[in-house]
Amino acid sequence: MKNYNIALIPGDGIGPEVVAEGVKVLKSIEKMDSRISFSFQDFPWGCEYYLEHGKMMDDDGIEKLKAFDAIYLGAVGYPGVPDHISLWDLLLRIRKEFDLYVNLRPITLLNDSLTPLKDKTKKDIDFLVIRENSEGEYAGAGDWLFKGKPEEVVLQTGVFSRKGTERIIRYAYEEARKQKKTLTSISKGNALNYSMVFWDEVFDEVGKEYPDVETYSYLVDAASLYFVSDPERFEIVVTSNLFGDILTDIGAAITGGMGLATGANVNPEKEFPSMFEPVHGSAPDISGKEISNPLAAIWSVSQMMDFFGEEKWGAAILDSIKNILEETNQLTPDLGGKASTPQVGDRFTEILKENAISKGIIAK
Ligand code: NAI
Ligand code: MG
Repeated sequence: MKNYNIALIPGDGIGPEVVAEGVKVLKSIEKMDSRISFSFQDFPWGCEYYLEHGKMMDDDGIEKLKAFDAIYLGAVGYPGVPDHISLWDLLLRIRKEFDLYVNLRPITLLNDSLTPLKDKTKKDIDFLVIRENSEGEYAGAGDWLFKGKPEEVVLQTGVFSRKGTERIIRYAYEEARKQKKTLTSISKGNALNYSMVFWDEVFDEVGKEYPDVETYSYLVDAASLYFVSDPERFEIVVTSNLFGDILTDIGAAITGGMGLATGANVNPEKEFPSMFEPVHGSAPDISGKEISNPLAAIWSVSQMMDFFGEEKWGAAILDSIKNILEETNQLTPDLGGKASTPQVGDRFTEILKENAISKGIIAK
């Protein structure tokens, strides 16, 4: 019996609604598969916590989280708390302290009807973006000089270390080799004449160790165009923190929007817990109405199962999302249905069970 210890940070707004459905899925797996069990601990951190305690998480919050195998996060952010505080003091703090330097964002079209791209189908849009998640343009380095004066100057410095650049690129090559897929690096060496020239050099250098991996290299502006016009070019993509942030939102747009986009923040060495979260925010406009779409959060559970080495369950969850997307009446309003958040979760667990039986993961 393998037990996985999961820290829950549901957060604000619709975060708790969608995390509850993800937990429902995990509990259903535990019930179906006698080899696996989960333990959960809930942490109340987020913006409401901030308004009450003046901080986003406990002072020893990072210490508390260290013992877990994974962190499952909903969303943080709420009107009244500045976004740079909620982001930097919780999410980015966890990403940095736990060295979650790999961000995995699947850009996979699960149902043809979900893409706004004319003539593109599931076989055209199926790739993985590996985003650098620990430094680069989001290192937080810089200065604000002569604040408020006419000579005011701000500096926002990109930080690209050899260690940081090499490890993310190496991770991407390993993934491309493992999956027997092409690898595309996205950078901007013509304009960013230090950081991105360095990035391109490291990409070529590390590539010498992977002669079996077919590679491509695009400038980020051209790549943005190809994401929309020619997504079938991409299989595995590696890119910097800022470029990855922006490109993966294009990726979300071509695969069905925020209700479906997911991301894993991974420390591959497993020195610290990795964090799994839907990409969307706390959606204050719809929170409390039970109409939030839990499928992105459920996709995060699929990524978590892959990360645990339970790939059969990871794949079964993804297939079940494909199946439920065929049943429009079982979906939330953002996908054209009338179902509530918990109704989607309930129907989902039924489908997952059917799939687990038909795939032979569990006995009938
Ligand atoms: P958002 O993702 O919360 O919402 C954007 C739009 O998408 C809204 O119309 C919302 O109703 C809709 N939407 C999002 N998730 C949905 C779901 N699961 N089902 C159905 N509809 C969904 O982004 P927004 O409005 O820019 O930000 C709101 C708050 O969330 C801000 O405080 C922001 O800082 C925070 N935020 C937090 C993130 C995180 O915790 N990772 C990521 C992005 C934003
Ligand atoms: Mg983003």
